Amino acid sequence: MASAGLSRSVSARFSYRSLNLNSPRVSSAAHRKWMVPGSFFNALVLVFFFVSLVLVLCCILYLYWFRYLARGLVPSFNGVVEGCDVFDGSWVRDETFPLYNSSLCPFVERGFNCLANGREDREYLQWRWKPRLCEIPRFDVRDMLQRLRGKRIVFVGDSMSRTQWESLICLLMTGVEDPKGVYEVNGNSISKTIQFLSVQFRSFNFTVEFFRSVFLVQQGLPPRNGPKRVKMTLKLDKMDFMNQRWVDSDILIFNSGHWWTPTKLFDVGCYFQVGGSLKLGMPITSAFRLALETWASWVESMVNTNRTHVFFRTFEPSHWSGLGQKTCEVTKKPTIEAEGNIRSEFTDIIAEVAAKVKFPMTVLNVTMMGAYRSDAHIGTWSHPASILDCSHWCLPGVPDSWNELVFASLFREGWR
Ligand SMILES: *[C@@H]1O[C@H](CO)[C@@H](O)[C@H](O)[C@H]1NC(C)=O
Ligand SMILES: *[C@@H]1O[C@H](CO)[C@@H](O)[C@H](O)[C@H]1NC(C)=O
Ligand SMILES: *[C@@H]1O[C@H](CO)[C@@H](O)[C@H](O)[C@H]1NC(C)=O
Ligand SMILES: *[C@@H]1O[C@H](CO)[C@@H](O)[C@H](O)[C@H]1NC(C)=O
Repeated sequence: MASAGLSRSVSARFSYRSLNLNSPRVSSAAHRKWMVPGSFFNALVLVFFFVSLVLVLCCILYLYWFRYLARGLVPSFNGVVEGCDVFDGSWVRDETFPLYNSSLCPFVERGFNCLANGREDREYLQWRWKPRLCEIPRFDVRDMLQRLRGKRIVFVGDSMSRTQWESLICLLMTGVEDPKGVYEVNGNSISKTIQFLSVQFRSFNFTVEFFRSVFLVQQGLPPRNGPKRVKMTLKLDKMDFMNQRWVDSDILIFNSGHWWTPTKLFDVGCYFQVGGSLKLGMPITSAFRLALETWASWVESMVNTNRTHVFFRTFEPSHWSGLGQKTCEVTKKPTIEAEGNIRSEFTDIIAEVAAKVKFPMTVLNVTMMGAYRSDAHIGTWSHPASILDCSHWCLPGVPDSWNELVFASLFREGWR
């Protein structure tokens, strides 16, 4: 009865409209159809009703599943969207940052603790990296400490890797009740030239390690009978002597690039070598590519990528300015446009080599995100003071976001 009533009033409305169309043919055809009670139209209304009901029920179930069940299955995973490029984004102001206090973390080296070295403006501490199409899950330290139980995290590279190593330890220490249970296993302190540091989190039974290997490949004596100016060579086809110690790890994060400059190579008598022969005229970018190819085949043959998650972080932009790039002016805010020396050919080479490898790996393409942060460098707040530094970053700061991106990538792969 109810449906008959419904059909009548609807049909009345429809026939009124069709009359308004001023087309007698349509109007009469419509009349004939609509005036037949029940049958076709009733069935249509019923189908519509049931389809709507099913859709609404599906929506409710879907929302329920996401809110209560999905969260339980993959905590902190909310917000990471499939297909979102987490490296494409901008810095947004966030009062809940920074994520730790450097003065309370014994693993921030004095040279990176800008506040302790006299920096007074604080706005630089409160920026969060926001990918354009999604959010990075917030660093949930309790969850992270549990997930890292029994694991080994290894950083290999130059001082930028050391900064990221320090950042990760400080991020994790905010969740540790007994700070004395976090210590360097050999009692070593941090310095610019230290080769190896390993910090143990005793209650959680994991280590965060750093190996200084600025070129990743082997540095050594030149072949005999070479020219006098050749004091050392980089053997582009051989991995650094320490490579055996990197293998047996769960998360393995590399970087290289900042030492591949004429000043740090040729000016100190270091030239390239492949096999037994010197490559005196080889451009630095070609040598870098060869070294990365050596690295890639090393990972392929030595690292069990079923267990080890492999990352390679790209080049860090510096913000030197003025004549001869000797001036270092740290700004108060990030810049609107990406600026600074990004040496993108290095990032491109990393991406090209990574695109060809047969094992799973993640390129941490962090070059552009640093390019906005002329406010986040050390500047004059270094240690010892008087050293200007527009290359390294203050801690807390940009390297914390690299670590957030490492975990965002791991979660996306379904890490447990
Ligand atoms: C790195 O990320 C930037 C910013 O999204 C992008 O413009 C650039 O193409 C990326 N580079 C590589 C090699 O993926
Ligand atoms: C960090 O901790 C120190 C020592 O407790 C304190 O004096 C300082 O105000 C803190 N800094 C920040 C930025 O909260
Ligand atoms: C610590 O972790 C290692 C694996 O890295 C494991 O072999 C060892 O049994 C663990 N020790 C404890 C006390 O859980
Ligand atoms: C890695 O996993 C694949 C597929 O599950 C398996 O075929 C391979 O043997 C594993 N490799 C190692 C070194 O465990």
